Amino acid sequence: MYKVAAIGGDGIGPEIVDAGKVVLDAAGEKYGFDIDWTDFDIGADRYLETGELLTEEDLKALDAFKSIYFGSIGDDRVRPGILEKGILLGLRFHFDQYINLRPVRMLAGTRTPLAGKGPDDINFLVVRENTEDFYVGIGSRFKGKEHRDLEVIRDIYSIKFGLDVESDSEEIAYQIGVISREGSARVMEYAFDAAMKRNHKVASVDKANVLSDVYGLWRDVFTETAARYPEVTTEFTFVDAITMWFVKNPEWFDVVVAPNMFGDIITDLGAMIQGGLGLAPGGNINPKGTSLFEPIHGSAPKYKGMNRANPIATIWAGSLLLDDLGEPEAAAGVLAAIEQSIAAKQTTVDLGGSLGTREAGAWIADAVRNG
Ligand code: NAD
Ligand code: IPM
Ligand code: MN
Repeated sequence: MYKVAAIGGDGIGPEIVDAGKVVLDAAGEKYGFDIDWTDFDIGADRYLETGELLTEEDLKALDAFKSIYFGSIGDDRVRPGILEKGILLGLRFHFDQYINLRPVRMLAGTRTPLAGKGPDDINFLVVRENTEDFYVGIGSRFKGKEHRDLEVIRDIYSIKFGLDVESDSEEIAYQIGVISREGSARVMEYAFDAAMKRNHKVASVDKANVLSDVYGLWRDVFTETAARYPEVTTEFTFVDAITMWFVKNPEWFDVVVAPNMFGDIITDLGAMIQGGLGLAPGGNINPKGTSLFEPIHGSAPKYKGMNRANPIATIWAGSLLLDDLGEPEAAAGVLAAIEQSIAAKQTTVDLGGSLGTREAGAWIADAVRNG
């Protein structure tokens, strides 16, 4: 019996998680295990009612689980950032889920916008650092006198830009990115270990030609880590260039290790080249703690409650969850069933089918049982 926490969240989140649960339950029937689900009511509705994002009680209760199955967060009624930072980043940070694993893999039968490329060309793994960089939440926005605690920054601005920081008509904002040796080393080790099980190649992403402090350290740690894996071929890529290479030569990549923010950006691009946001899964992993599995897309508010969103990204995230629980056969069974649904054109409209979210999930669940 596996105890799994489920957080549907906002927008299409509850619908796609429901579809995913049906599939994982089917995998349990087929491969001989039970999942005991506990639903958590966390998201915009509760926030708007009570002002609560993640409570002490939520975290205490979630601490008891090894796995969290997550839909998405984000709602038009709430200012951008409140729910995303307060809930999703809150969970990633609380559980120190320092790996954000994002496979970019084109499944047979899907369509990539890249001319002349197919499933053999588009199959790599992005390992995104998930706790540092510009996501650490150090920043502020201030008008002159309002803010007196960061004199260094006030000085830089007044000297460099000639702003009168005592004047309320001048406004500045800053946000600081932090990279640590330890934080980089642990994600890079994970990436190199992953490459050892794949095609022995790791590309590092950065912008060390401009942000030379943070990504200078990132590069140093990459070089040191690489020295311990002589069987692995490595390269440095600048983030602007890698977006070009993802489009031009996706077949070059095996494992890509990226700092938090660039990893976020390049994986939406990855999702599109693998066939669309409705397909791309992610796992926020603490190898020794609680991990959270989710689609990489957001809450797509325009499709909320319409039974229209593609559940595949979430179901695939469920496959990653099963793998993490030590059920690799069931995980492979779920992925195979997803592929069958695509081959049989039993999909939602974004992939050219005519099924609703629920029906697409049910079709995949049946395919798992019959697999
Ligand atoms: P989004 O990923 O929600 O949607 C962008 C577009 O992609 C949608 O309008 C839709 O056309 C398509 N799409 C996404 N998921 C789909 C699916 N399952 N099936 C079919 N089409 C799908 O991004 P956004 O519109 O920029 O953000 C909406 C909200 O989600 C915001 O509040 C944002 O902060 C939040 N967000 C949350 C997460 C998360 O919870 N992990 C991730 C990204 C964005
Ligand atoms: C993602 C999302 C999140 C991120 C947001 C919603 C906090 O874009 O999971 O990719 O930036 O990590
Ligand atoms: Mn993102």
